[in-house]
Order: sequence, then C-alpha cells, then structure tokens
Amino acid sequence: MSDAKPAGSATLTVDGQTVELPILEGTVGPKVIDVRKLYSQTGMFTYDPSYTSTASCDSALTYIDGEVGILRHGGYSIEDLAGNSSFMEVCYLLLHHELPNQAELTDFENTITYHSMLHEQMRNLYGGFRRDAHPMAVMIGVVGAMSAFYHDSTDINDPQQRLIASHRLIAKMPTIAAWAYKYSVGQPFLYPRNDLSYAENFLRMTFGVPAEEYVANPAVVDAMDKIFILHADHEQNASTSTVRLAGSSGANPFACIAAGIATLWGPAHGGANSAVLEMLEQIGDKKNIPEFIKRAKDKDDPFRLMGFGHRVYKNYDPRAGVLKKSADDVLELLGAKDDPLLELAMELEKIALEDEYFVDRKLFPNVDFYSGIILKAIGFPTSMFTVLFALARSVGWIAQWKEMIEDPDQRIGRPRQLFLGATDREYVPVDKR
Ligand code: SDX
Repeated sequence: MSDAKPAGSATLTVDGQTVELPILEGTVGPKVIDVRKLYSQTGMFTYDPSYTSTASCDSALTYIDGEVGILRHGGYSIEDLAGNSSFMEVCYLLLHHELPNQAELTDFENTITYHSMLHEQMRNLYGGFRRDAHPMAVMIGVVGAMSAFYHDSTDINDPQQRLIASHRLIAKMPTIAAWAYKYSVGQPFLYPRNDLSYAENFLRMTFGVPAEEYVANPAVVDAMDKIFILHADHEQNASTSTVRLAGSSGANPFACIAAGIATLWGPAHGGANSAVLEMLEQIGDKKNIPEFIKRAKDKDDPFRLMGFGHRVYKNYDPRAGVLKKSADDVLELLGAKDDPLLELAMELEKIALEDEYFVDRKLFPNVDFYSGIILKAIGFPTSMFTVLFALARSVGWIAQWKEMIEDPDQRIGRPRQLFLGATDREYVPVDKR
C-alpha cells in the first residue's frame, strides 16, 4: 500500500490556543485531517457518533465515491468486474491487491476447492439449533465455532496462517450457508464436490438432494457468481468496521468474522435485502404505493423504504444498477419475467425517485433493493437472503482484517466519548435512599 501524502495542514484555534493539524492525501478521494495528536495538544476529543466524517483507517482495497456512484476494487470498477470477472478472481484481487494470471487463478481455485469441506464434528453443531432457527443465527454460531477447530491457522502474526485462515473462510462459507438452509428444511446435507465451480457447488449443496443428480442452470450459476461479486466488499461499512475493531485486539479471525455476520444481520445493513421482499409483499399492489411512500416520509412512523438510501451513496448505488439489469435477465430466463414483485419494485423506484422527499435527501435504491427479487426467483427463501450477503462479504471482511493486521501502525481500536452522566457523588447506603 502506498503511503498517504502530506497535503498541508489545518489550523484550529480553541480556547485561545492554536494547533496545526496535518492534512493527508490518498491516491483518490477526500483528504483527511490527521487528529491523532488533537487530544494531547488540546485536551479535546473529536465528536462523530456515527462516523459520518471519520476515516477509521487507511486501505487500498475498495474505493467508493458516493456523490458520483463509483465503486472500485483495486482500481477496477464494479461494473467491469461484474461484467467480466469471476468471484474467485475478485477474492484473489482482494487478498493480493492484483488480479491473478491464469496459473495463479487455477491454483487459487484449487486451494479454495480443497478447503470446502467442514470438519466432520461441525455437522453436530447444526443439531443443537431448533429447525426454525433463523439461518443467520446458525451461521453466526457455526462460523464462530470455526475458532474452536482450526488451531493451525490462527497465529495472526504468521502470514502463511493468515492466508490459510482466509482460504478456509472463503471456501467453507458456501458449505456452512447451504447446510443452514438444508437444516431449516429438514433435508440431508450434501458434501461439496471438487468438480464444480464455487457458485455451482453452492447451488447444488443448497437445492440438490441425495435422491437424484442436481445440475444447476448455467445462467443461474453466472447470476449467483455475479451476485457474490457485487456483495464482496464495500469499504468501512458497519460489519467491516466491526471485524476490524474485533481483530484489532488480536482476537481469533473466525470469531471476528462471526461478529461481522452479527452486525450485517441488522435491517439497516445487510438485513435490508430480506426486508425489501417483506416490504414489497406488504405493499402487494401498485395502488398501495402512495400510502407506503407517505409512511416512509412520516417521522412519526418507523417505516422506511427498505433498499433505499445509503450513508455514502448520494447517487444510484452502482451495484443496484447491475442487479436491476440482472433481475430482468434472470427472471426472463426462469420464466418469471412477469413477477409482480419486480414490476412493483420498478414502479416504487420510479415514484420514489420523482418524489422531492427522496430527491432532496438523495435517497436512491441501494444494493439490497433488487437482490432479493433475483434470489427469490432462483428459489431462496427470504430468510436466506442475508446469509448469501454474508457468504459473499466474508472475503471482504477477511481481506480487510488481513490488511489491518499487516499494517505496521496497527494498534487496538479504542474510541473515547462525550460523558453526560452523573459526575462525582458519595455512596448512599440503601436504608438512606
Ligand atoms: C447496506 O455502509 C455500507 O456500505 C452498507 C452496504 C454494504 O455493502 O456494506 O452498502 C449494505 O447496508 C445498504 C443499506 C441497506 N439498508 C436499507 O436499505 C435500510 C433503509 N435505509 C435506511 O435505513 C438508511 O438509508 C441507511 C441506514 C441506509 C442510511 O442511514 P443514514 O446514513 O444514517 O441516513 P439517515 O438515517 O440520517 O437518513 C437521512 C435522511 C433522514 O431524514 P431527515 O432526518 O433528514 O428528515 O433520509 C431519511 C432519514 O429519515 N431516510 C429515509 C430512508 N433512508 C434515509 N427515509 C425513508 N426511507 C429510507 N429508506
């Protein structure tokens, strides 16, 4: 990773004291004011509770320009990667900062293929859950349990072990996810097969049964692989920041990923893809759209237009654009072109984008708005949508974790606070209260 370039300084005058704070510049994007010495120089903290203006780290993995709607991994646009590469290539790019040549790609695909089985004891973990457990709860449990199994890849200071842990996570997530689904529907688990590609293997383990051969539709395999690419990484979002903070203490990498999965589950984050489908099913018919738009704008109503808005994108989320096109293609292919949910989603988007409330606040469809429609058409239940998001995002989480551990300046993350509680007071015995 190249170093940040000095780009002058900012002068801050507070309580009659003037301090110079260095300004740093990256290769692209907003400059930063380096406030690391602010407390020691002024006795004051910065205050940014939801990190709307805070760069928590430097990174060379993913760049987003929210104003324009740009998303790049290692300098390659998401449109380019989704249109021309494979999820395995994107995984390699995120782990090694370069796209692989053919020999490197073949070797990487083999490595992932030969780590796709789980330790046989891990099968027993599923039996401890109720059959109606949410698959995200199962995934948190099983991924967290990986920290109890793979002791030969958790010395985070050994580069080779960091890479093995990364390979194991990427390779095993499809098996873990598929088995969570199988467990929920009471069907037997299928083992991965080494003659299948990453997405093909996942689809077969999810929808196949031992009673007959399952061959995934090649166009669905391509759509699945593209969906994985679109969800792979996304800068310092909530779940990635969780993984980085957890990892900054030196915790077991698999335990850190489980924390990321827990964060992604929230409806404001990755849980939104399921919430979009539930919302569309609740709206039911185009004639009901105005009522729901009205509710979304009503501050006294907790309802929000799921799949709309984004902390960073104040323009169309480029992933939503790719997914919208892909939804058309996949539904056509699966003979579900007239899926009323797709029509409803497109009408809802049209109306929202013409409404000044959404226009004024720059609220556009995000990655979650169209993904659920495709996943439903492929055959996944709504409860599995966020599991698929977690499956794909695991490469982003582990790549960001690896980048953080490999940063020579890395220290444990420890934010401060603005204290508003009781100040100094004497203890009062209970019989005097
Ligand atoms: C993901 O960070 C990432 O990169 C995440 C992600 C990734 O790849 O990791 O991109 C994946 O999480 C996508 C986002 C999925 N979530 C949703 O679709 C849920 C619905 N969206 C909102 O909850 C909201 O837009 C957030 C959570 C996405 C963003 O919230 P912010 O940045 O805190 O914005 P905000 O709540 O301050 O909203 C600004 C204004 C507010 O109105 P005012 O107070 O200015 O009057 O816009 C309004 C909000 O009420 N608003 C919405 C809205 N989103 C924002 N109003 C109605 N419907 C919405 N969806």
